[in-house]
Amino acid sequence: MEFQYLTLDEFDLRDKAVLLRLDINAPLDPSNNQILDDGRIVAAKPTLDALSEARVAVLSHQSRPGMGDFTSLQLHAGLLQKTCSQRVTFIDDVMGPAARQAVRDLKKGEVVVLDNVRFCAEEILEDTGEKLAKTNLVKRLAPLFDIYVNDAFATAHRSQASLVGFPYVLPSAAGKLMEGELSAIEKLMSNPVRPSTYVLGGAKVEDKVPVIENILSTRKADRVLVGGNVAKVFLKATGTKLGQRDEEELGTATDEVLKAKRILSKYKKRIVFPTDFGTLTDGKRVDIPVRKLAKVGRALDIGSDTAEKFSEIVADSKTVVASGPMGVFEEEGFESGTKAILESMANTDAFTVIGGGHLAGYAGILGVSERLSHVSTAGGAMLSLLAGEELPAITALVEAAKRYKRK
Ligand code: 3PG
Ligand code: MG
Repeated sequence: MEFQYLTLDEFDLRDKAVLLRLDINAPLDPSNNQILDDGRIVAAKPTLDALSEARVAVLSHQSRPGMGDFTSLQLHAGLLQKTCSQRVTFIDDVMGPAARQAVRDLKKGEVVVLDNVRFCAEEILEDTGEKLAKTNLVKRLAPLFDIYVNDAFATAHRSQASLVGFPYVLPSAAGKLMEGELSAIEKLMSNPVRPSTYVLGGAKVEDKVPVIENILSTRKADRVLVGGNVAKVFLKATGTKLGQRDEEELGTATDEVLKAKRILSKYKKRIVFPTDFGTLTDGKRVDIPVRKLAKVGRALDIGSDTAEKFSEIVADSKTVVASGPMGVFEEEGFESGTKAILESMANTDAFTVIGGGHLAGYAGILGVSERLSHVSTAGGAMLSLLAGEELPAITALVEAAKRYKRK
C-alpha cells in the first residue's frame, strides 16, 4: 500500500494563496464554550510552519448540524494563533463576500481561519469530486487559490466538497500531518514486523468488526485481543450469556454478532478473549470470571487476570495497534484495563500505534503518548484504512497528482 500523492516539498509555496483543509474538530463543552482537547490544533503546526511564506486560508469543520457543539471556529482560531508563528485572524463567513475579501487581503505569512465549513448545506452532501466541484462552495472559493492542501486525515473517510471537490479543480498536496498518518498506516498494512497484535475495544463495534476481518484475513495481524463492547459481541457469538444490562445494550447489534460468528469460524485461534471482567457490585469493583457474567448487571472493564495476560502478549509483540478502550475508563476503578494496555505499549520497543479520540486522550492524561510510535488524530478514518477501505479524500489527492503531472 503506497499512496501516490504530491507533498508540500513538490511545490514552490512562497507568496502562493493556499487553501488548507484541516480537521480541527475538537471536543467542546457548549455550556462554557471551552475546547477540551487541542490535540488536532497543535498537530497542524508542522504544515503551518511549512506554509510560513504563503497566504493561507484554513477551512475546517466543528461537529455536525444539530449537535450541541456545532459551532463557529472562532475559539479554534485563537488556539491556532497560540500554536503557530504566523498572524492568525478569524472571519465569521465561509464563502460569502466577507470571506472572499479576507482571502484577497491576505499577505505573505498570514493565516485566516474561515468559519465552520459545515455551516454550508452543500458540505453535508457526499458525492464524487466531479459533482462536488460544481458546488457553490468550490466555485466561489477555488478561483482565489493557487494550491489546495489537505491535512485533514481524521475526515479523509468523508467524500465531501471541502475534501474531494477542491482537489478536482486545484493543484493539490497532502500536508505534513496527513503524510505522517498515512506513512504509519502504510507500515502496518505493507509489511508489519511480527508478531503483530491488535487490541480492539470501545463502544463502536460496527467500526471494529470489518477491521478484525480484514487484518486477520490478510494476515496483517497475528493476534487480535478484544475488550470493551467488541469483546462482548464476540463472546455473544460464541454463545456466552452476558449480564442483563449488556444483553439489553447489545440487543440491536445482531448483525455484528452474525459477522463475529463468521470471523470466529475461520480465525478463532487468533482471537484472544478476556477471561475475566471488572463489574460493579455493592458499590465497588469486583472481578469475576466470564462464566459468571450472566449473574451480574454489566461488565465495565477487562478483569485484572485478562489485563495481565493482554499486557504480556503486547510485551511479546513487535507491532501493536490499539483502538478503543478496554472498558469505561472514565469511571474511577474501571480504568485499569485500558491503562495496562497503554502502559505495556509505551514500555515496549515495538512499533506502536493508537487511534480514536478516547484512547488518544487517555494516553495524553497518562503521559505515555511520547513513548508510542504514532498517536493518530483520527478514529474512523484510521479504522477505514485498516478495514481495507479506500479513503475518498486520499483518492482525490492521488487523482489530483495524476492530473497535475500530466500538465
Ligand atoms: C471526527 O472527529 O470523527 C472527524 O472530525 C470527522 O467528523 P464526522 O465523523 O462528523 O464526519
Ligand atoms: Mg467521526
